[in-house]
Amino acid sequence: MGKKKLVVLTGAGISAESGLRTFRDSDGLWEGYNVTDVATPRAWRKDPQLVLDFYNERRKNVADAKPNAAHIGLAELEKDFDVTIITQNIDDLHERGGSSNVMHLHGEIFKMRSEKNESLIYEIRGDMKLGDVAEDGAQLRPNIVWFEEPVPMIELAVPVVYSADIFVVVGTSLVVYPAAGLINYVEQEVPKFIIDKKIPYTSPMPNLTLIEKPATAGVEDLKRLLRQ
Ligand code: APR
Repeated sequence: MGKKKLVVLTGAGISAESGLRTFRDSDGLWEGYNVTDVATPRAWRKDPQLVLDFYNERRKNVADAKPNAAHIGLAELEKDFDVTIITQNIDDLHERGGSSNVMHLHGEIFKMRSEKNESLIYEIRGDMKLGDVAEDGAQLRPNIVWFEEPVPMIELAVPVVYSADIFVVVGTSLVVYPAAGLINYVEQEVPKFIIDKKIPYTSPMPNLTLIEKPATAGVEDLKRLLRQ
């Protein structure tokens, strides 16, 4: 028999112990910013420099951060399970933690793309500048899915969630759609786990185990529970 399919949906909370701020906690990123000033197509049209400054800062923070025991613990589960990580995070800490199968719903901070053609994508490690253009001559923008933009990866994520044998959620407030809706595609009989410092609201569902702990301790518990 092949390995069981373990699907994990992650959010900013899994990277909090790596020193990256979440969005909606009291010290969250959005506390200091108005979302509509930095993370919408309108913001990009109105003040692209401010948007670039915001993401240049995010890129520096991510470059300085290291994967924590939660990222690494999920990667270690690949020994016993066929693991797919579906992350809302734009950091690369799952990859650096050793996970080999990571889907980024909201884009990646180390990638940029033509503002006119979303398939012209390039790697970026340093700062982005106004005037930097893609092969098609168009300004380069962060390869991030902004509010009010479609989430193309969701179509690939839905069948993955639907085929899960075990489903785990780590560190997301489950308020941003369509990502938050993924949990509704998990089959009834599938064991489900939510790990979060403060368990987010979900509609009642069968076979749900709540682990109200920081991600690092929670993933340790999860591994113990899965071994039983
Ligand atoms: N361990 C586990 N969970 C934690 C920790 C921690 N150390 N610290 C915070 N959390 C939890 C919070 O309790 C909350 O439920 O992580 C969650 C963070 O929620 P949000 O800040 O809303 O982040 P997220 O759900 O990833 O946001 C979704 O919103 O702004 C957009 O595109 C952005 O991908 C992001 C999306």
